[in-house]
Amino acid sequence: MNLKRLFFQPAFLFLPLFSAFSQQLTVDQKVADLLSRMTLEEKIGQMNQYNDDWIATGPVTLDADKAGQIRNGQVGSLLNCVGTARTRKWQEEALKSRLKIPLLFGQDVIHGYKTTFPIPLAESCTWDPELLKKSARVAAVEASSAGIHWTFAPMVDIARDPRWGRVMEGSGEDPYLGSLIAAARVTGFQGTLGSTDGIMACAKHFAAYGAAVGGRDYNTVDMSDYLLWNVYLPPFLAAKNAGVATFMNSFNDLNGVPATGNAYLQRYILKGRWKFDGFVVSDWGSIGEMINHGSVKDGYEAALSAVTAGSDMDMESRSYKNHLATLVKEGKVPVALIDEAAGRILKKKFELGLFDDPFRFCDPEREKKALSNPDHARLAREVAAKSIVLLKNEGEILPVPESVRKIAFIGPLVKAVKQNKGFWDVEVPGVDSSFIVSQWQGLVNRAGADRLLYAEGCKIEGTDKSGFPEALRVAEAADVVVVSIGERRDLSGEAKSRANITLPGVQTDLVLELLKTGKPVIVLINAGRPLVFPELSAKAPAILYTWWLGSEAGNAIADVLFGTVNPSARLTLSFPVSVGQIPIYYNYYNTGRPATTDSNRFYNSSYLDESIWPKYEFGYGLSYTTFAYSDLKLDRKELDAGGKITVTLKVTNTGKRAGTETVQLYLRDKVASMVRPVKELKDFAKVTLAPGESQTVTFLITDEKLAFYNARLEFAAEPGEFDLMIGASSRDIRLKESFTRN
Ligand code: NOJ
Repeated sequence: MNLKRLFFQPAFLFLPLFSAFSQQLTVDQKVADLLSRMTLEEKIGQMNQYNDDWIATGPVTLDADKAGQIRNGQVGSLLNCVGTARTRKWQEEALKSRLKIPLLFGQDVIHGYKTTFPIPLAESCTWDPELLKKSARVAAVEASSAGIHWTFAPMVDIARDPRWGRVMEGSGEDPYLGSLIAAARVTGFQGTLGSTDGIMACAKHFAAYGAAVGGRDYNTVDMSDYLLWNVYLPPFLAAKNAGVATFMNSFNDLNGVPATGNAYLQRYILKGRWKFDGFVVSDWGSIGEMINHGSVKDGYEAALSAVTAGSDMDMESRSYKNHLATLVKEGKVPVALIDEAAGRILKKKFELGLFDDPFRFCDPEREKKALSNPDHARLAREVAAKSIVLLKNEGEILPVPESVRKIAFIGPLVKAVKQNKGFWDVEVPGVDSSFIVSQWQGLVNRAGADRLLYAEGCKIEGTDKSGFPEALRVAEAADVVVVSIGERRDLSGEAKSRANITLPGVQTDLVLELLKTGKPVIVLINAGRPLVFPELSAKAPAILYTWWLGSEAGNAIADVLFGTVNPSARLTLSFPVSVGQIPIYYNYYNTGRPATTDSNRFYNSSYLDESIWPKYEFGYGLSYTTFAYSDLKLDRKELDAGGKITVTLKVTNTGKRAGTETVQLYLRDKVASMVRPVKELKDFAKVTLAPGESQTVTFLITDEKLAFYNARLEFAAEPGEFDLMIGASSRDIRLKESFTRN
């Protein structure tokens, strides 16, 4: 074969030659080599992400010829494309493009793929990052088997406002716990990136999205750098340090600049100070939405603003596709910027091994196996049981004694199936709902159908009380009444803000009627956010906050109701007494006129008509046993720069059942160059003890625990006195000491 003929051979004949050559290169060299062979349009194509038309998680734009654009190398990634059959179909199209660059398939795998774990806020109440690493791992094993390369998780937004529907997706209000969980989830999802079951994680939404004014989704955010760096950014930094492959912009503007076009966030902080080397994807349409914000005039200016600020991939707005080439040709955007963005994306494709085998995540056999692995359901059940928070247990009516003859299981959520998955579940093609264990089924499995009585009582919403008489009749015939009420699963989530975070419909009335029977009533509250339920917290003897527990909800609830699992979850988001208290959070500043009790309101920072305290505070949660704290010791009371103090204390199980306590360590920097919070969680330990058993818990105090971002945004500890508080919650402080840092 002469050279000329060789030159005109189809490209695939060169592939073995190229891949042998490319194996000698580093990933960066492979990226540079590929970029050198790409046209400007092909590079911009890599920066363009479309929704597959199958499902939508945002306002859809239909493209006339998506397949044609993919074949032309104009698309780098698809989202909402799941299952081996569908991902294979689109990947085959991508391989018809000139350079055969494979597509990336991204998906919101937020709390499980098929096996659905509790919503992330519920999971965070386990205070168990290692466990959450495992649940993220299972999600990745399942999703990767179904063709997915990339999850848009974890959501690491700190949130202080339960009206915001997206609190369900995060880990609550605390930056320390939030950071540990962010890192754990990233590690769990990604496993070893490059293996076939590690998927790229995405820290979102960058940044400060959780501080939307009034808890209204997508709303504006105005925030000091001091608050941003000390409270809202730490979980993002933790995700970055854990090696997260991608970040996602947030929808909000931050101090007048939309996050998507915000160079301070992306260029200065993320890619500058933090040296993040993955890529940034916009949120759905957020590049184009800068027009609505009023920070740009049109798509052309939007593309310029976003790419300059550091957004590498355009999810669904088409601004990059429509305008970047012109911007480059006009000299407004340097080619180097395009190379940087496309290069970051291509690098991940190389690292995932997609150039070696574009279908390595797409194996129907593996998919079948992964989606029916009984270990996954077992883990989901464990995580779910550990996510249930016991808010009240008067007269120790829980756990339900084995000897109970008849249990009335009443309420609109008893027999619901899909509701248990909560928001942001994944609709897996070809999988029906039969794998979800309803609450009814869970109790049948545990107690047997012949011990159970059922009445729906009412619907979640609406004013219809016609089911009450039947519910009362059923309650009268039972020894114990369990009522399952709550929100609809889609009353929390994206675009699901609520101004009134009460229990919908007549559900409260139903419980109040049932209480009149004099039977012991246990209330299960299913929700994606903290709700306000003053009458029930006053009158119901037992309340379990179940959140949305996922596909093993029924079994997990039965485990806790009957005491097979002793509840150990602790709240990660404060529950307000009333909406007027919001935002309410434990790590507030003291003010010049601090209120310390509700009885001293005279010229103090308080309300005339409401408590200053939450109903249930951060770190709160009961157990079926009790714990005593004693013997707090610090090995020294002074700390030099770079030194450490060893803190020890004794925890004893003083009740009659084995149980797990979450021992919480809070610090307060008493005088500093900036006002510091009244307390900040800086460590915790989970201790499992048999009745009567004691254990010594040890914590280390180092400069890192004392440091904060000061007015110059340096992370440093300052000399002075610190209070150290050991608590069973952020309010229930059991032991106190103080020490000095020199
Ligand atoms: C918008 C949401 O804000 C984001 O979290 C999600 O990943 C994308 N839509 C894609 O569904």
